[in-house]
Amino acid sequence: MYRSHTCGELRLHHSGTSVTLAGWVQTVRKFGAITFVDLRDRYGITQLLFGEELNAQLDETPLGREFVLQATGKVSERTSKNGNIPTGDIEILVESFKILNKSAVPPFTIQDDTDGGDDLRMKYRYLDLRRNAVKRNLELRYAVNRATRNYLHGQGFMDIETPFLIKSTPEGARDFVVPSRMNPGEFYALPQSPQTFKQLLMVSGYDRYYQIVKCFRDEDLRADRQPEFTQIDCEMAFVEQEDILNMFEGLIKHIFKAVKGIDYTEVVERTTWEEAMWQYGIDKPDIRFGMKLANLKVPGHTFLDKQEALKASPFAGGATGFGVFDGAETVIAIAVPGAAEYTRKQIDELTDWVKRPQIGMQGLVNIKYNADGSLKSSVDKFFGEAQLKAIADYAGAQPGDLILILAGAEERTRKATSELRLELGKRLGLRKADEFKLLWVLDFPLFEYDEEGNRWVARHHPFTSPKPSQIDTMIGNDPRIENAAEYLKHPYAGIKANAYDMVLNGNEIGGGSIRIFQRELQEKMFAALGMSEEEAMHKFGFLLGAFEYGAPPHGGIAFGFDRLCSILGGSESIRDFIAFPKNNSGRDVMLDAPATIDDKQLDELSIQLNLK
Ligand code: AMO
Repeated sequence: MYRSHTCGELRLHHSGTSVTLAGWVQTVRKFGAITFVDLRDRYGITQLLFGEELNAQLDETPLGREFVLQATGKVSERTSKNGNIPTGDIEILVESFKILNKSAVPPFTIQDDTDGGDDLRMKYRYLDLRRNAVKRNLELRYAVNRATRNYLHGQGFMDIETPFLIKSTPEGARDFVVPSRMNPGEFYALPQSPQTFKQLLMVSGYDRYYQIVKCFRDEDLRADRQPEFTQIDCEMAFVEQEDILNMFEGLIKHIFKAVKGIDYTEVVERTTWEEAMWQYGIDKPDIRFGMKLANLKVPGHTFLDKQEALKASPFAGGATGFGVFDGAETVIAIAVPGAAEYTRKQIDELTDWVKRPQIGMQGLVNIKYNADGSLKSSVDKFFGEAQLKAIADYAGAQPGDLILILAGAEERTRKATSELRLELGKRLGLRKADEFKLLWVLDFPLFEYDEEGNRWVARHHPFTSPKPSQIDTMIGNDPRIENAAEYLKHPYAGIKANAYDMVLNGNEIGGGSIRIFQRELQEKMFAALGMSEEEAMHKFGFLLGAFEYGAPPHGGIAFGFDRLCSILGGSESIRDFIAFPKNNSGRDVMLDAPATIDDKQLDELSIQLNLK
């Protein structure tokens, strides 16, 4: 027997008990003839006390940090207690001990506040995983996993595994490919998601499927993206959008309760993609705070439903006389609560912020709506007080607020304003880590225009169904575009999908859709994406074939499991919640992968390298 208890288990009521513990040496403190050792395992830390006799033994075989130690002794009440740890009332009076294994001096200290930098900790990830902070993240991840399985099992879902060596599943990224030795010149692709398999399972009659599954995407990495990541992947048959939204907000609420003890009793808000873009400038708005966008000017062919609302804009009358606004495609304002007192320096700093290449704006116009009701602006030369007041009112500003205005091309300006809003939300403390706010974003566009390829691509994926009333718009149109600059005027730009995203605190945590389930419509979709019949058959013949044998209506969703965990854990980076993550260049620095393979392996795969 290596141990009778764990290092997190013993309390005052164990006093007098003989115990054996095993774990890692966290610290060694020598005080004359006695030595204290903190022994650590997954469950906690217990103090060991080595008396005079054993101390002599320790002098001969000294203990070092991270040594694996087994110690037997009696639990005893401490004279000076440590209220910071659960075992802080007791210590073990060691009677015998054994060094089970030595350790080299670790490259960084294994403590909450480690001295190890990111790269070092990644290289020695197995040591980093011993730290409390990382351990807590993995525990949270496991709790989310358990809660997910409990909920879905309770709802009659069945976990069914799907293959990893498959043919390409387009989800908008590049595939990782695997050469086939037995089929020279041919490659498998790793799944970007199990999308087509879960649809085939619906055809097979498994009407409630889920899987917590690895997905692989060769895409540019960010804090919330990894080349291999995990999804909670789900699909249901005989459902409408409403059924899916209810089922899966139920899942997230269940996870909130089971993992964070949060009762999310409020109704999950819903908005459309268009409304989100109009009000927040982004399709995954953080709705924990207001500061909505005031659209002073937008190009005529966008936001067709908002033409009436735009008539209320103070700029509706035409030219304002201020060249920057008059020459810009789009002008958007936000009212920053209580910020009229910002100093010149603070405003200059914000101006520099929007001019950074990542944001890419030319400048920032401001109007101070002072607490006494007076208005002062950086463009006083062009606007009288009445005009400034009209802008302030349109932006929903109150006395004491600062109105910030950005002008430029539509897409960039909208995106920049949304980022400025988030930045100010952060600076004003409106994005609280312990506040969670869910939002469904509905009715996404079915297509997205790919400027490089001059073609339409599926915004979600090609299996997503269009709004039934718009199916006819898809038929008989040449999807190619004559004048690329005018693509927004093409009828395809206005087609909406039965697609939805779930957004949590400004992060897209999940996305899905009601699927196409008739062969004819699926063929039309492939054609609209510029695929020839042969190409569609070559890539998706299996799915089109399956749709001929009684495919039921179906739909589903997939949640980003790592992302969900990181948000629940209050971190921006999903890496912290993955046991063995890749770095930003897609490398595993611990394994040093990817790596070359030897000539024999290449030969067997009939592969010749052509490195440039
Ligand atoms: P989608 O591509 O929207 O949908 O992915 C679903 C969710 O997975 C997460 N996610 C990622 N997380 C970490 N790293 C990545 N590289 C990454 N890419 C995506 C996001 C996202 O919301 N098959 C469809 C789902 C469906 O239609 O049912 C799909 O994969 O949180």
